[in-house]
Amino acid sequence: MAAHINIGTLISGGGTNLQAIIDACKDNTISGNIVFTGSDTPDVKGLERAQTAGIDTFVVDYARIIRSCRSGIADKDLPADFSLEDIMEKQHLIDPADGNALFFLKSRAIAEKQLLDRIMTYDMDLLVLAGFMRVFTPYFIDRINTVPGKYRIMNIHPALLPAFPGTDGYGDTFRYGCKVGGCTVHFIDYGEDTGPIIGQKAFEITDTDTLDDVKRKGLEKEWELYPACIQKFARQILPERA
Ligand code: GAR
Repeated sequence: MAAHINIGTLISGGGTNLQAIIDACKDNTISGNIVFTGSDTPDVKGLERAQTAGIDTFVVDYARIIRSCRSGIADKDLPADFSLEDIMEKQHLIDPADGNALFFLKSRAIAEKQLLDRIMTYDMDLLVLAGFMRVFTPYFIDRINTVPGKYRIMNIHPALLPAFPGTDGYGDTFRYGCKVGGCTVHFIDYGEDTGPIIGQKAFEITDTDTLDDVKRKGLEKEWELYPACIQKFARQILPERA
C-alpha cells in the first residue's frame, strides 16, 4: 500500500525526466502529485512542460545570484541562520583548503535560502531533482531533511554510481570506453553523488554507438527508473539515514 505523496521538483533544462514523472502521476504509476517545479535557470523547456501540466513554477536564478556575489559577500547578505563552521564541518563538496571554498559555500547558501523560501510555502513530502545541475550544501539539505533518519531529496544521475560522479556521466562513460552504461537514482547526502542508491538501470554500449546514442539509451532508461524509485519512496521501503 503506497501513501499519496506531495512531490516538489527542481530542474535546470529540458525536463524529459520531469515529463516522465508528470505522466506517471497522471496514470497513477506514482501515487502522488507534483506541487511545484523550480528551476535555477530562466526560460527552460522544463518550466513550459510544468506549466502545461498546470503545475506552479518558479525560478531562482543561480547564475545571477553568483554573479552578484562576486562583488563581495557581507555577513548581512548571508541567511540569518547560516553557520559557516557547521557547513564546513559537514560538507564533502569542496576541499576547505581550496581558495574558492568560502565563496562557493556562501554564495550557494544565499541561493539556497531563496530556494527554501519558495519551497517552504508548499506541503512537500519528497524533493525530486530532475536534471537539476547544482549541488546542495548542508545548509539546504538540513532544512529539508528535518526528521532524523529520513532522507527526503532524490536525484537521478547519468551513470552507474559510484562510477563517474559529476556533471557529465554519459560523456565520461562513453569516453572511458565502457561497454555498459547506466543511470542511478539515489538520495542526496553531504557529498557529490554519494548518497544511498535507490535504483539503477544499465544498457549495452556497442562499438558503433556514438555519444548521442549513449545519451538516448540512457534517457530512455531514466524515464522508467525515476518514477519506479519515487513510487518505492511512496511505499516507504527505502533505507534509513545513519
Ligand atoms: C539527465 O540525463 C539526468 O540524468 C542529468 O541531466 C539530464 C537531464 O535531462 N542529471 C545530472 O547530470 C545531475 N547531475 P532532462 O532535463 O531531459 O530530464
